[in-house]
Amino acid sequence: MERLARESGGLDVNSRYAYLLWCRDFADTSVVARAGGRLAGFITGYRRPAAPDTLFVWQVAVGPDFRRRGLASRMLGHLAESVRSQGVRFVEATVTPGNKASLHLFESFARANGADLTRDVLFSEHELGSGHEPEVLQRIGPLVRPIGEVDGPLARPAGLRGAEDGVRS
Ligand SMILES: CC(C)(COP(=O)(O)OP(=O)(O)OC[C@H]1O[C@@H](n2cnc3c(N)ncnc32)[C@H](O)[C@@H]1OP(=O)(O)O)[C@@H](O)C(=O)NCCC(=O)NCCS
Repeated sequence: MERLARESGGLDVNSRYAYLLWCRDFADTSVVARAGGRLAGFITGYRRPAAPDTLFVWQVAVGPDFRRRGLASRMLGHLAESVRSQGVRFVEATVTPGNKASLHLFESFARANGADLTRDVLFSEHELGSGHEPEVLQRIGPLVRPIGEVDGPLARPAGLRGAEDGVRS
């Protein structure tokens, strides 16, 4: 995941430790996609402690060879549907204004699910520092109808307890 984040460009690359910890503790709100033994994409997310009806999507990455084929949309739909039973009705993510692909991804998800999308700066350039663009919060919802389930090689990230833990495909 760390390697894919680095290859993807446009993402803040976290440490391997951070990704390992994420897969250990937040596998239920994250997803990976595999293709022929390769990691094709992932989403890391969590339910906001102060607003458990909201899934915060932290990072979305799709490998350069797998883009523009609907993979990010499928992963997002899969994840949003999988947390519906936990009462999740809203999806949030932040996107920098220049990231057209990501803006389109969330617009498309909102449209496909008949949900509203609102935008508001969450973290300013000043707060982020180092010339970072502002991070604009995209809030989507309420999600009122089932989100289309998907087929294919999507799985929970395997935690540290063993590669079989929670893998679905
Ligand atoms: C953003 C990203 C995850 C999209 O992945 P993807 O699998 O190519 O996206 P999808 O094929 O599911 O496309 C989703 C929507 O965005 C649109 N889209 C995707 N890439 C686009 C681009 N470069 N320019 C314009 N629109 C784009 C698609 O047409 C689709 O819209 P539609 O449903 O109306 O047809 C991928 O480009 C990526 O990994 N980028 C680098 C990392 C990043 O910026 N992540 C997001 C920040 S958290």
